[in-house]
Amino acid sequence: MRKLAAGNWKMNGTLADLAELDALALACAEATCDILICPPATLIHPMVARIGGGGISVGGQDCHAAESGAHTGDLAAGQLRDAGADHVIVGHSERRADHGETDAAVAAKAAAAHRAGLRSIICVGETEAQRDAGDTLDVIARQLAGSVPECATADNSVIAYEPVWAIGTGRTPTNDQIAEVHAAMRRALAARFADGAEMRLLYGGSVKPSNAAAIFALPAVDGALVGGASLKAVDFAQIVAALDAA
Ligand code: 13P
Repeated sequence: MRKLAAGNWKMNGTLADLAELDALALACAEATCDILICPPATLIHPMVARIGGGGISVGGQDCHAAESGAHTGDLAAGQLRDAGADHVIVGHSERRADHGETDAAVAAKAAAAHRAGLRSIICVGETEAQRDAGDTLDVIARQLAGSVPECATADNSVIAYEPVWAIGTGRTPTNDQIAEVHAAMRRALAARFADGAEMRLLYGGSVKPSNAAAIFALPAVDGALVGGASLKAVDFAQIVAALDAA
């Protein structure tokens, strides 16, 4: 299974930050894992133009479920594809929280991404209250069942486990907690999809150079979805190197 180091720039970055991309491409020229950056939509095409054909893929952070139409401010998966993206994140907890996205809405977005020829990165994760209540595995099972569409395959879908309370906080679950959730996700996907055991599972939430190697050593962790530490090439390159070494 090919490993994937994915960076989510969230609402950060302007054209001036494309220099970070050059630095990343240089630092990761020998990398063997897949590398993806999901910048703000305004930077998708400039990034692809800058590194087109190189070893770094470019993705969107969200897409609409419809192909086109009267949806002011939204972007269709086909438009992301047209701009040069080959992946799109759907169901990030910040979109679920800020925009009220339900599991069904996320599944519809992932299906739209697949129809447009994009690979979806489908995010799930429990809140701190859910973890404290002992509901983590139930929440993840429910989100997987509702957010991963029937058309998902190991080729067109990647699943990212991002505990909400670990995002941008510097806190991470214990290695045992990450391994427990990833094992449960692997089992659930293998039971539902013919090639579900082959779907790549990413961990996300405060991944940084100092903890990446320990996380990548865990079973059923096939890479990471990285926020803050993907903004600086020097940090993200170290995470890529840790994944390559795992
Ligand atoms: P941080 O790496 O900044 O915690 O963000 C994780 C994330 O939300 C990636 O999608």
